[in-house]
Amino acid sequence: MSGGERGHTPVLLDAVVHWLRVRPEDVVVDATIGLGGHSAALGSRLGAGGTLIGLDRDPAALRKAEGAVRALGCRVMLRQADFGECGAVLAETGVGRANVILADLGVNSEQLDDAARGFSFQADGPLDMRLDPGSQTQASDLVNRLSEKALGDLIYENAQEPASRKIARRICEARRSGRIMTTAHLARLVCEAVGVDPSSRRSRIHPATRTFQALRIAVNDEMGALDRFLDAAPDLLDAGGRIGVISFHSGEDRRVKRDFLRRRGEGVYRIATRKPVVADESERDANPRSRSAKLRVAVREPAGEAWRATEVEGDERRGEADDES
Ligand SMILES: C[S@@+](CC[C@H](N)C(=O)[O-])C[C@H]1O[C@@H](n2cnc3c(N)ncnc32)[C@H](O)[C@@H]1O
Repeated sequence: MSGGERGHTPVLLDAVVHWLRVRPEDVVVDATIGLGGHSAALGSRLGAGGTLIGLDRDPAALRKAEGAVRALGCRVMLRQADFGECGAVLAETGVGRANVILADLGVNSEQLDDAARGFSFQADGPLDMRLDPGSQTQASDLVNRLSEKALGDLIYENAQEPASRKIARRICEARRSGRIMTTAHLARLVCEAVGVDPSSRRSRIHPATRTFQALRIAVNDEMGALDRFLDAAPDLLDAGGRIGVISFHSGEDRRVKRDFLRRRGEGVYRIATRKPVVADESERDANPRSRSAKLRVAVREPAGEAWRATEVEGDERRGEADDES
């Protein structure tokens, strides 16, 4: 995550550049442009005949990204859109099929750092969590309206939180004395539910981490968007084109892995990354968020003779092995 400003570093940047193999005339779609870090690096490999299309649900992210890609020598188009609707955006731009599509899932550092967006339990703010401020449902709507069972299911299914039932019970008890409208209030309830004082916690992970993640995923229908994106991608890619997805938790990674494997079985994709690419120790030390990042890359078949001649050696041949990791 993160973009090209104030030392923010996009995750797995070298691997993204290596595996996506951008050529000067390519059409590159950055489906989650965020702060523009990956786009700036991929776009710097495009020439005047190349095109970069950047999408984000968050208009604030698009404004930041604009600064990061302004000086590129290629054609640049930025659109506020859900990547689940990537096909409609590509059709509207009239560029035809893409050679490279990247999705770096989740939230960017500016969204996390802005207490007013409500993504973080580290600073108090409204319980919002919408990536697109124009969308209807906020996290406070779910927290205050869902039944105890539905809330527990949501927290478990979206984040595999083992204490999901206890947390849902504590939230529903607290609701009897008033609505839960702030991140600090919710974080306190989660800590009470699991009996952990976050200031004296032994664990590296704050007790509210998974509950916040689960709510964010639900508010933004992140799994639905990912499914729609993965479904649309084969028709959006040119033969030999590459799709890369960076995921940050097992629910996302499982979806990407299963999609790529299924389509490999159908002759639609070749899997380029035999195992998911993860950050090395120096990146993990420098950027804690990279610790959970996994990059998977697939190549749209039929890849064509040119692709085979240049790439079947080395890591691509190993990519032919079963990707069961
Ligand atoms: C991890 S950040 C991307 C960072 C970016 N790769 C960079 O280098 O700066 C994820 C971005 O995806 C956006 N996003 C999340 N879900 C989305 C969706 N369904 N459609 C479009 N953008 C989405 C978020 O608003 C956020 O800006």
